[in-house]
Amino acid sequence: MVIGGTGLVGNALLRAWKSRGAEVAAATYHCHASGGFLQLDIQDAARTRALLREHRPAIVAVPAANPYVDYCQTHPEETRRVNVAGTLNVARACSEIGARMIFYSSDYVFDGAKGSYIEEDAPCPINEYGRQKADAEAGVLAADPRNLVVRTSGAYGWQWEPKNFVLQIRARLSKGEEMRVAEEVRYHPTYVENLAEVTVALAEAGARGIFHVVGSEEIARCDFAARVAAVFGLDGRLIKPVPAAELGSPTPRPKQSSLCTDRVRAAIGLPLLDVPRGLAAMRAMEGSWCEYAKALPDPAAKVAPGRGI
Ligand SMILES: NC(=O)c1ccc[n+]([C@@H]2O[C@H](COP(=O)([O-])OP(=O)(O)OC[C@H]3O[C@@H](n4cnc5c(N)ncnc54)[C@H](OP(=O)(O)O)[C@@H]3O)[C@@H](O)[C@H]2O)c1
Repeated sequence: MVIGGTGLVGNALLRAWKSRGAEVAAATYHCHASGGFLQLDIQDAARTRALLREHRPAIVAVPAANPYVDYCQTHPEETRRVNVAGTLNVARACSEIGARMIFYSSDYVFDGAKGSYIEEDAPCPINEYGRQKADAEAGVLAADPRNLVVRTSGAYGWQWEPKNFVLQIRARLSKGEEMRVAEEVRYHPTYVENLAEVTVALAEAGARGIFHVVGSEEIARCDFAARVAAVFGLDGRLIKPVPAAELGSPTPRPKQSSLCTDRVRAAIGLPLLDVPRGLAAMRAMEGSWCEYAKALPDPAAKVAPGRGI
């Protein structure tokens, strides 16, 4: 079962498992009139338990979250109810039916002072999103030591609701609009299809504990934006590198939170893609994604739970 099946990571996971012939159920927070998604608010412990008891999945992947870093900073209690309490509702329900859980966390559990963080480094978050992720990780691993925590960073790829950085750049630049991008923030952009394939391989290998799964190349955010423009044939001069402080975010962010990936490389045989290979793979997938997306429910027609459909 994938909880968060409409999201960037969740939808890629759903497709990766289905392509192997696995039977996969997918849940989303919003209600959809089509697409076969189950509806679940992970804040509702009883409904979470009932859904897992009904479907009895062997593995429950949980990319469901409120991943908006600034929103978490300004609404800590509201987002904690999803990102920590909700995650732990799923962890408890998984323990009760003997399912293994895969939880998605972030490089933001670190402060960015050191870089090349290994899985054993103690979390030291500097913002609320990072604190929520660190607390949820600890709870997930305490619930069952067989559970898997995948820490990732800067995921990009085709997405049902075009929210990720690459799709934002494409949308802005194709309209001839400038885009201001932080010049000093460095990270490892991660192609979401690669992240999904690696997750499935880890699950098949019975991996447990924490694994860092990020693209193999560290790059400044503004340089990544320029590469996106080049790959998609857009005008890279519209990318305006600026100091991160000028972007007006209320949230302190780690400047250099790169994650060491030795553990995942030793555990499975799949490569982690660098930026050229990740962007080229995304570009090559455009046609098949457009076909696939036709079968997805219209994002504009989604309805919040309890409002009826
Ligand atoms: N994207 C990145 O760059 C990145 C980097 C590091 C870590 N992560 C982590 O990776 C995970 C996946 O991120 P993403 O980018 O795929 O997120 P996303 O695209 O925003 O998808 C989030 C998913 O969670 C569902 N959801 C939200 N609230 C829920 C609730 N209360 N109950 C059940 N489902 C709920 C959403 O359902 P609806 O569509 O119905 O609202 C959606 O399917 C998150 O934990 C995120 O923190 C992401």
